Amino acid sequence: MSRPICIVGTGYVGMASMLGLADLGWKVHGYDIVPERVDRLRRGIPPYREPKLPELLQHHIEHRNVHFFDSIEEAASGSQVVIIAVGTPSRDDGSADLSAVRAAVEMLAHVQFATWPTIVLRSTVPPGTTDSLSALVAPWGNLIYAPEFLREGSAVHDFLNPDRIVVGSATPAEAVPYVTLLERLQKPVVFTSRSNAELIKCCSNAYLALKISFANEVANLCGAFGATSDDVLRGIGYDQRIGPHFLRPGIGFGGPCFEKDVKSVEFVSAQYGLGEGLFSATLRVNEGQPGRVIRILEEEIGSFAGTTIGVWGLAFKANTDDIRDSLALRIVDELGRRGAKMLVYDPAVHVAPLPVGSRLVTSALEAARADALLVLTEWPQFARIDPTAYASGIARRVVVDGRNVLDADRVVAAGLIYRGIGRSGPSATERRTSLASALTV
Ligand code: UGA
Repeated sequence: MSRPICIVGTGYVGMASMLGLADLGWKVHGYDIVPERVDRLRRGIPPYREPKLPELLQHHIEHRNVHFFDSIEEAASGSQVVIIAVGTPSRDDGSADLSAVRAAVEMLAHVQFATWPTIVLRSTVPPGTTDSLSALVAPWGNLIYAPEFLREGSAVHDFLNPDRIVVGSATPAEAVPYVTLLERLQKPVVFTSRSNAELIKCCSNAYLALKISFANEVANLCGAFGATSDDVLRGIGYDQRIGPHFLRPGIGFGGPCFEKDVKSVEFVSAQYGLGEGLFSATLRVNEGQPGRVIRILEEEIGSFAGTTIGVWGLAFKANTDDIRDSLALRIVDELGRRGAKMLVYDPAVHVAPLPVGSRLVTSALEAARADALLVLTEWPQFARIDPTAYASGIARRVVVDGRNVLDADRVVAAGLIYRGIGRSGPSATERRTSLASALTV
């Protein structure tokens, strides 16, 4: 029987790696520093909301493929591969806080391993981190870097369907124990140095974030010009060199990864004298986007003092209950500061720090009994609600769609004023009608 794989950290990356590896047929030990979390996991209770997680967790517990520990000795001593998946949050200056990674390595240094272990760092870290930690590991094991590219909301699926596997090690041979675990995926493997692998991860995130900021800039231009960002970005995305993904404009990117990672790359670039370039511009555009959405609402309803705004969505994106660095929350805070009260509905978020006087409600229609409605997360179910069901509840008749998820024509047909991001051009119906008349001429 092969040795169990040990995973340090039961956050999004740790859990998805654990269940993905169990799906691939490996036995996995999960370790977490928080005993209550371990206790809940042993009972099959996931630490956060993620599609398919409860069923998979239950299945692999029942089949004894995964076990949870609050003792690192018990979790790791029998393993040949130990994966570190702990958080690396931003410090105030934008640099990454590596204290949890360092603590995990120091803790593993005290484990009595039965074999020479391969320690796989999987947390997102700035370039140079793995090399600088390797001296701590060298007396008792090998340290390699293997980033993940999974998204919250589809984490296990992404783990099992990666576009590529990236592994950075001092020698190709050191990468073998880790790559063997993923052999069944039959995906291209990029063998490279540890700092190259670190750069691949943080620059991939920086590029995706850049693409979103680009889409937001284009949409802002469309808005100013009276054009339609849906058509413009669709037209751009058809070019295979560009691709359609991550071109959805909106309130900006949020969540625990993009902002933190771009800030970290910006910080490292500045250390090398590379000045304010694209990384900084990506963040600048993103920081401005919530203010643009607020201005659109202000254009329609004037001062916020004494108003009630219905808000649909608080999570940083759809299919998660995660509100870490959610720009929706920043917008709600700003509206609160400016005197508005909010009725907030999110299908997954049931607890959130809201401004005084604002509250979470339990249905979308309840939130829409307000002066205006603001959509801040791209939950697809919002688009499925017939606008006639909420039109009469919105006193000032205004809907601001900060994610371009609603069907503008249906909202307008229900007697409401619709404003999206860069959606000020002719509506889809008008475009169809004018196309039809052009074709009949
Ligand atoms: C992101 C990356 O997509 C993953 O590849 C990476 O592994 C992960 O960070 C990480 O480093 O851990 P995630 O933050 O879970 O994943 O979510 P995304 O789906 O990338 O969305 C991030 C934010 O961008 C959300 O607020 C989303 O609403 C926004 N977004 C995304 C847009 O505004 N427009 C888009 O076109 C796409």
